[in-house]
Amino acid sequence: DTPLNTRLSARYKRSFAYPSFKDRIPVILTKVIDHLVRDKESIIAHFGEKAREEVKNVIGYVSQLKNELMTDKPLTELSSLGSDHELWNRILSDKTKEHSRPPTWFQTEWLYAECYLYRRLHEAFLQTEAIKHLDPFHWQKTKALENSLVQAEILAQHVNKIVSNNADSSETEQLFYEFLKISLWGNKCDLSLSGGTEICLQENPLNQVLKYDSFILADDSQCVLKHLADSPKGTIDFVLDNAGYEVFTDLCLAEFLLSKFDEHKVLFRTKAFPWYVSDVIAKDIHYILNTLKEKKGELAECANRWQSLFDSGKFQIVENQFWTTPCVYADMEEVDPKLYGELKESKLIIFKGDLNYRKLDSDINWPPTTPFSQCLKGFHPAPLVSLRTLKCDTIGGLQPGKAEQAASQSESWMVTGDFAVIQFDSS
Ligand code: F6P
Ligand code: MG
Repeated sequence: DTPLNTRLSARYKRSFAYPSFKDRIPVILTKVIDHLVRDKESIIAHFGEKAREEVKNVIGYVSQLKNELMTDKPLTELSSLGSDHELWNRILSDKTKEHSRPPTWFQTEWLYAECYLYRRLHEAFLQTEAIKHLDPFHWQKTKALENSLVQAEILAQHVNKIVSNNADSSETEQLFYEFLKISLWGNKCDLSLSGGTEICLQENPLNQVLKYDSFILADDSQCVLKHLADSPKGTIDFVLDNAGYEVFTDLCLAEFLLSKFDEHKVLFRTKAFPWYVSDVIAKDIHYILNTLKEKKGELAECANRWQSLFDSGKFQIVENQFWTTPCVYADMEEVDPKLYGELKESKLIIFKGDLNYRKLDSDINWPPTTPFSQCLKGFHPAPLVSLRTLKCDTIGGLQPGKAEQAASQSESWMVTGDFAVIQFDSS
């Protein structure tokens, strides 16, 4: 029931936005509260006695936030904590003017309200001293990583063999497609959609790649390869999505690009604070490397090599506040010209995941056959590719008949993470 060419919103009851705000996102907040209640003593042991009162305050804040969402209250201004508050408050005031009243959760644009929710959650911690840097999703991310170690080890073994061998060019091409798709399907592992249960890892990841090609609804991987092979060596940017297994697959792809395409360096662009449950913050990458080093064997071998790539600057983590704003990427040049300028230097920008896709295509209910470059609405800093499993009801760039074919296989094809796209743009 979302009109065509309109941004998604929970006001459309048959969109994925509505059940998300009604059921799924309140559960995410409940889990945060439960964690703080359950693990209070260990939090205090870690952050000190001051944390006792602060944990209580955060629990109160998050409960109230959940209540505001569930009763569709108007969104309110952020306090002056956090250097991004002016941007947020300006957007809120623009929306208030536009509609002659403040936006409410279910009536306004979903993307905006959902980002606002994670920013408000961050605000709860900004108001504290001792637990300012507590990541309320850390425990879920670490548990998910533990649960994926069998798959990660299979991949580690594969990567370790490949980087130490010389491959001829046709082998390199095949391996490129394989690593690209491993990283693509790594995006199925998402804790905000699954509510914490891993739905992505039943299989050997190497078999998954071959078996699921028919679920890739648009596959521009050949264009990506051609672009990489035909252009001078350069910097690859990953705009990351989820921690745990997904970022592990991204690191594999990144190392493959350095070792077989001889690219100069890889920048891993991360959020600056906890976001959409499983999204990567810098701390998660360090945690993953340290955890894998302790596992010994193939995993440690991989992690030690990656650590040296970070040490030598071939791999770099770059945080930016823009990724945790509600802005769509078509607005990046205006909102954050510095970041846009940095991305212009990239040889290839790899956007991982569903939320990045929503921001690439402005979260609009496009007719699915709308060309991908049109959905980008002028966002063309450098050649880019989106590796996304579908978890939200917006899509463009499909050939005629593809959407219908997917819908005939599954009514909820757009939101389960079972279908995917590899979409490239170099305009
Ligand atoms: O809740 C909104 C949403 O964008 C979903 O559509 C998706 O399930 C999740 O958040 C994020 O997915 P990803 O981790 O792939 O960006
Ligand atoms: Mg995510």
